[in-house]
Amino acid sequence: MSAPILRDLDALRAATRPWILAGETIGVVPTMGALHDGHLSLAAAAKAICDRVIVTIFVNPKQFNNPEDLKNYPRTETEDARKLERFAVDALWVPEGDQMYPPHFATTVSVAGLTDVMEGVYRPGHFDGMATVVTKLFTQTAATDAFFGEKDYQQLMVVRRMAADLDIPITVHGCPTIREIDGLAMSSRNLLLSDRARTTAPVLHEVMEQIADGLRAGTDFQALHTKAVARLERAGFTGVDYLDLRAQDDLSALAAPTRPARLFAAAWLAGVRLIDNIAIGS
Ligand code: PAF
Repeated sequence: MSAPILRDLDALRAATRPWILAGETIGVVPTMGALHDGHLSLAAAAKAICDRVIVTIFVNPKQFNNPEDLKNYPRTETEDARKLERFAVDALWVPEGDQMYPPHFATTVSVAGLTDVMEGVYRPGHFDGMATVVTKLFTQTAATDAFFGEKDYQQLMVVRRMAADLDIPITVHGCPTIREIDGLAMSSRNLLLSDRARTTAPVLHEVMEQIADGLRAGTDFQALHTKAVARLERAGFTGVDYLDLRAQDDLSALAAPTRPARLFAAAWLAGVRLIDNIAIGS
């Protein structure tokens, strides 16, 4: 059955009020639409533990540092609603732009530290826009639980920090990255890849797994890094923004996996920016 699509705050509040009064748990799955199996796995995780589930769809202009990227971001609302039918979620929150950012809107939520590296460097302002909208989504939906994919691991960490710092009473659940059969991490941006680029895209995950294997075998990270960048370039990637080994708990840069670590990558293929990360262990 289709969930109601709510587009204004009055309708959202009318829907959530009885749930809150009944003491029900409310799970929120924040998305920008163009839903794929990764998003659907978050909806399933929410359904498994929450009394009520709200999926949000809002292409948040404040988190795009590049107007072309915002313009090209896939928008597939009808298809998204159809994909969610089998999960029987309770509502889709699809706010109009002025419901999220009414005239005179002047507040920014900014998380320091964790945002100084990787995406924070290459996408200035992205995390402020993301943290601002996620704060609003948390308070608008009155959710008790929120579900985010580990694919955007840095985002997940920023959201956890923000919720803790602002005393928002919500549990933030990180859910595993869902991959295509060839290893490519699912992402709405994959829809922008040409057929040819789509066949090359899994090389990113392949080189990351090679680095992980090399690290486990005791090979020097720098040597593995150089080899991986060369392989990506040979495959047709036009730039590597970063290919970093970082501590899992605070994202500090590591030269070797001396503590629980993750490998993070962002690379350009045919005009599309792909990001991924995998756990390394120590
Ligand atoms: O990961 C995303 O799709 C977005 O950053 C989010 C969390 C929905 C906020 O706009």
